[in-house]
Amino acid sequence: MKKHSDDEMNRILSGLQTDERVQEMRKFIQHGRVSTYEHCESVARLSYKIDRLLSLHSDLRVLLVGAMLHDFYLYDWHNDDGGAHRLHGFTHAKAACANARAHFAIDDRTGHVISSHMWPLNLKKLPMTREAWIVCVADKCVSAYETLFRR
Ligand SMILES: [Fe+2]
Ligand SMILES: [Fe+2]
Repeated sequence: MKKHSDDEMNRILSGLQTDERVQEMRKFIQHGRVSTYEHCESVARLSYKIDRLLSLHSDLRVLLVGAMLHDFYLYDWHNDDGGAHRLHGFTHAKAACANARAHFAIDDRTGHVISSHMWPLNLKKLPMTREAWIVCVADKCVSAYETLFRR
């Protein structure tokens, strides 16, 4: 049973991992030495583990596509770019969601996972579904780990 589910995770993720635009995230640093691509992949895998461990029965496609694209904003927030990314923490979830909609025609539930992942920084964007909560929590755990241990 477990094997079957892992196959399903890998199948959903591999559909995205081969995409050129998704691969573009390898060019940008997220935290420390970790690219945005690696970060998103870690968040997707941890989200999956949380779902399985707690038997939350998420919609795996919404969970994994949302997790893999949650930081699909496609720029390096460390670059000043004339102050364009000063509010990165507050604005990137919206940018990632817009890119995901434009490139993958994601549904509203997947869009919600992406747009609410920065709660509580974006106080008004409260996660309203189990998939959104899982990705929000997984992102915090992975980000803390990367910031502390992968510098
Ligand atoms: Fe983010
Ligand atoms: Fe993230």
